[in-house]
Amino acid sequence: MSLVQVIGGGYVGLTTAASFCHLGHEVEVVELDPARRSKISSGSAPFFEPGLEALLEAGIRAKRLRVSSPDTAEYQSAEFVFLCLPTPDLPDGSADLSALYEAVAIAAPRLSAGTVVVSKSTVPVGTARQLEALLARSDIALVSNPEFLQEGAAVSAFLNAERVVIGADDAEAANRVAALYAGIEGRVVVTSVESAELAKHACNAFLATKLSFVNSIAALCELNGADISEVTEVMGSDSRIGPKFLNPGPGWGGSCFPKDSASLLHDARRAGFDFQLLQATIAANEQSFDRVVERISDSCGGDLKGRTVAVWGLAFKAGTADVRHSPALAVIARLHAAGASVVAFDPMVSRIEGVTVAEDEYAACAGAHALTVLTEWPQFQWADLGRVAEIMAARVVVDTRGIIDVDRATHAGLQVWSVGRAHHGGTPDASSVRS
Ligand code: UDX
Repeated sequence: MSLVQVIGGGYVGLTTAASFCHLGHEVEVVELDPARRSKISSGSAPFFEPGLEALLEAGIRAKRLRVSSPDTAEYQSAEFVFLCLPTPDLPDGSADLSALYEAVAIAAPRLSAGTVVVSKSTVPVGTARQLEALLARSDIALVSNPEFLQEGAAVSAFLNAERVVIGADDAEAANRVAALYAGIEGRVVVTSVESAELAKHACNAFLATKLSFVNSIAALCELNGADISEVTEVMGSDSRIGPKFLNPGPGWGGSCFPKDSASLLHDARRAGFDFQLLQATIAANEQSFDRVVERISDSCGGDLKGRTVAVWGLAFKAGTADVRHSPALAVIARLHAAGASVVAFDPMVSRIEGVTVAEDEYAACAGAHALTVLTEWPQFQWADLGRVAEIMAARVVVDTRGIIDVDRATHAGLQVWSVGRAHHGGTPDASSVRS
């Protein structure tokens, strides 16, 4: 059993802490925010993440998990210090590393010789070297161990990781960090510190590129009468491409892809490389948001002024309550700018500044001139479309996730534009708008 200190009680930190505790280690979470500290110490997660609360509770009950503030943390007893702090994007696209620097500055003089400091936050390549310089302790090794967690499946992603990446100069430190993961079947990949940092950014930027590509192919499908689900079935059955991350959508978002792609682009520029492909990936995502709004506008007769649009979904994907960089918010901002009123519903998000949120998916549709589906929640897939058609002012659905059954919708009298498919139900005209 090792004492693992986890600095930062956010998504990455708490998932790491609860999972290491589950693997049998003693864990101390160091969290600045008192409200968050008291939640965690009572065994509740401060955000929705399936499976997390059960592990936190079990850890606290077994007395293997505790929570401290930076002032009371037992730095001197820690064998490992995991840095799990946010690295938000600054207006120029670069990552704000101040929380990391601050945590290292506090810990540095207090740590015992032989401690391994592990950087888990997603950071620009070269950050670990800077942290090493700030640490200024030749008796302490610094290792990069990036996280690859997906929100909504973070705990199972940690415990069933496909690979554990350990970037280290010091083989002994790498082995000690690898040993913490004993019990996880994934392959341990040991790399240089720089490779580990860059690999994390490369994975996210690659996945974002895959999605921008798929969304662009979906646009071509619509223009040429092809069907994106058939096209991606063919693409995905090629083992060189693989079937995952081929679902088209309104564009990609979340707390990682937008921030990490902007940060990688910024770092590339700083290093003297014009990363045109990544730039195009980001631009294609904005184009996706624009296209969704164009579709909604088309379905409202070409002008959104004075129209009411029902929005199903605010979270950046199903399975989470997180709205950070949500495609839904990007689309809503564009709808507002074009003069439309928006009434939204999301099963996990009940309040959001500047957006009217209805109490259920049907209330959101009352009197709406168009409905758009922006998050792939299963309850939208199974909604009573007859009821939806009955209460809308115009019976038009713009389904950016391809989850609404077109036959069922058409049968209910709805016209459907479904991402990556030819338009169904004819072009809406003024006569379809009821007063
Ligand atoms: C992502 C990475 O997957 C994870 O490895 C990394 O550690 C953090 O960033 P996450 O932000 O939780 O995880 O979301 P993810 O499931 O990857 O989805 C990102 C965005 O892509 C969402 O907006 C989602 O809706 C979209 N997406 C994903 C699609 O549009 N289609 C897909 O097939 C998959």
